[in-house]
Amino acid sequence: MNRELLTQGAEGRVFTTSWLGQSVIVKQRFPKTYRHPDLDAQITRERIKAEARALVRCRSFGIRTPAVYDVDFTTNEIVLEEINDSVTIRNFIYDAVNKLQSMNSPVFMNLAEKIGKTLAKLHANNIIHGDLTTSNMLLVPPYDTSDIILIDFGLSSVDERPEDKAVDLYVLERAVLSTHPNTELFVQQLLSVYKTAGGKVAAEVINRLDEVRMRGRKKLCFG
Ligand SMILES: Nc1ncnc2c1ncn2[C@@H]1O[C@H](COP(=O)(O)OP(=O)(O)OP(=O)(O)O)[C@@H](O)[C@H]1O
Ligand SMILES: [Mg+2]
Repeated sequence: MNRELLTQGAEGRVFTTSWLGQSVIVKQRFPKTYRHPDLDAQITRERIKAEARALVRCRSFGIRTPAVYDVDFTTNEIVLEEINDSVTIRNFIYDAVNKLQSMNSPVFMNLAEKIGKTLAKLHANNIIHGDLTTSNMLLVPPYDTSDIILIDFGLSSVDERPEDKAVDLYVLERAVLSTHPNTELFVQQLLSVYKTAGGKVAAEVINRLDEVRMRGRKKLCFG
């Protein structure tokens, strides 16, 4: 089947193609030559397993993710449902900002609220995403009212510790603030909804987030 390259990252490539008559996404991980081949094969395998497991786990808790159609450990590929007409939240924000939408407008406050609720549910079920960015969240038409669809779980884990959940949120906070200008209120709204939606556990995570931020700042200052 013909494959069309969608993205090429440091870890692998993402293609669109068709598979048993369906439009699918193939994520292929390739070897890292600087690693020992045995270790590399093991890490690649773990990433693929983590990704497939988390995608299925999310669906079982009612969190939207692409369906997993196939996992192949000889080619290091995973075949996923293609989410038709989807846009990444990153591009959704860029487009809306280009159309002169202020980051503090209701469209974005609603979006922040939806992300906050989705992540509260993810963490309530002890799923740590590991790479939360606006490129790893999709929207489908009608974009303004779409559910959040989470993707790219290669660095995910299952963990109940508030620390790991706080680091997950910290990664997202840094990613949003550095990718999208004027998003302080957006992040604030996202975290406040996360805290309300996630109850006692989420409150602990938000407390812990302060410590994680402080460590992050020290690291920036002292290397
Ligand atoms: N199931 C899907 N449906 C539609 N588009 C997708 C899907 N999965 C991925 N994409 C698109 O491909 C891009 C890259 O996918 P993904 O984030 O999974 O890979 P990656 O960032 O290269 O992964 P990794 O960090 O694990 O190497 C996404 O940002 C999105 O635009
Ligand atoms: Mg990604």
